[in-house]
Amino acid sequence: MSDAADIEFGGSAAAIRHHYDVGNAFYREWLDPSMAYSCAMWEGLPEDASLEEAQHQKHLFHARSIHAAAGMRVLDVGCGWGEMMRTLLDDCGVAECVGLTMSEEQHAHIGHLGRPDMQAVLTNWRDYRPDRPFDGIISIGAFEHFAHPRQTVEERRHVYREFFSACRDWTEGKGRLSLQTIAYANMTPDQANPFITGEIFPDAELPTIEDIVVASRGLFRIERLRDDGLDYARTCEEWSRRLRRAVRDGRIDPAREPAEKYSRYLRMSAAGFRMHKIGLLRIAFSPK
Ligand SMILES: C[S@@+](CC[C@H](N)C(=O)[O-])C[C@H]1O[C@@H](n2cnc3c(N)ncnc32)[C@H](O)[C@@H]1O
Repeated sequence: MSDAADIEFGGSAAAIRHHYDVGNAFYREWLDPSMAYSCAMWEGLPEDASLEEAQHQKHLFHARSIHAAAGMRVLDVGCGWGEMMRTLLDDCGVAECVGLTMSEEQHAHIGHLGRPDMQAVLTNWRDYRPDRPFDGIISIGAFEHFAHPRQTVEERRHVYREFFSACRDWTEGKGRLSLQTIAYANMTPDQANPFITGEIFPDAELPTIEDIVVASRGLFRIERLRDDGLDYARTCEEWSRRLRRAVRDGRIDPAREPAEKYSRYLRMSAAGFRMHKIGLLRIAFSPK
């Protein structure tokens, strides 16, 4: 999945496509209609709240973290199918959004939305050179792909620091950054399940909280940090239920689509969050 050039910075384009380009139609059947593919935020919602409501609350949370306001220009690193950008533009009055993705299918999907205020760029963040600065940056569920399992702790921290440096440069040291990422909790990398690291997320490696603290030191100030691992357990369980229902209703053909594999990965991930082996960090950074 990787070549030497990619290992220096982490996940290769092939590794990203392996996971994200299995077909937009497949994902559409079990994600919520906004196609958000990251941990939702359930806090404070009624017990019977829908996944869509919890995803929307998560997007508003990140918008507030960067103080999103009318007229701003915002970057979304790892924009998926574009819902964070849509929320910023339609609900927060942001003027312009640019989203980076390494998935061709996500890039094509956003292109077909036909929105001049929402631009998707098919690139790795490390190759991205914006022509104008941004007022704020959001990155949800992408940081897990930035480092490579064969890197040492020092090499991983170097890559993360490059990322924080780039974010600082792209905001000219004046913008906020809202980051959401899975992280190791009561587990070490050597205990990771080979099915997840080999078949589901090849070439991906999780950070620890310490990695993030060390890598961002002097570049951004950590304003707030929360671990919402149980939110991710509930999100994975909801996705898993929807996936099983789609198979049962004949909307997904398990002979042609990786339903079995994904169902197993979602159940394993939910268990990992419930046992606090892994956690879900939401970190608000302010400029230093
Ligand atoms: C789990 S998805 C999350 C998508 C979206 N943020 C959401 O919450 O629905 C991860 C996203 O990160 C992107 N990504 C991963 N590594 C990246 C990199 N090095 N540069 C740019 N995008 C990357 C993938 O292409 C994908 O869009």
